[in-house]
Amino acid sequence: MPRDAFRGILPVLTMIFNFGPRPVQTAMCALLVVAALGLAGCTQAAAPDGPPIASLHSHQCGRCHIPPEPKTRTRAQLEDAVPRHDRRVHLSHDDWQAMIDYLAAPAN
Ligand code: HEC
Repeated sequence: MPRDAFRGILPVLTMIFNFGPRPVQTAMCALLVVAALGLAGCTQAAAPDGPPIASLHSHQCGRCHIPPEPKTRTRAQLEDAVPRHDRRVHLSHDDWQAMIDYLAAPAN
């Protein structure tokens, strides 16, 4: 950014950050962080707060029904549902394996 433009923006930024009581300043900072994360999100496929499979789960498995909650289906139930989903969801074999691992209730 050219020097002059920066000089023009600086007082505005200073004003924003000196404006208002502390909670307002904190909110401003939080907003900037959220904006930065949003931009980072464009280059990152995964949700910032979970494994990639969790974002696949919430995006793909919620299109037709409520996505099955992790640990509420047995591995067998899930494996049984996979062939029926062949034409519904296009996941690679590896993604289905990861999905089953993510969703399956632990065997007891
Ligand atoms: C295109 C629509 C569609 C999408 C997308 C979809 N499902 Fe389904 N799903 C269905 C339908 C319809 C049924 C009910 C018939 C059956 O059981 O096959 C179902 C049933 C199921 C069942 C068995 C019933 C139950 O609740 O236990 C499971 C498990 C399941 N889906 C998991 C998934 C998972 C995991 C994904 C994401 C990878 C997913 N589904 C994405 C349409 C879809």
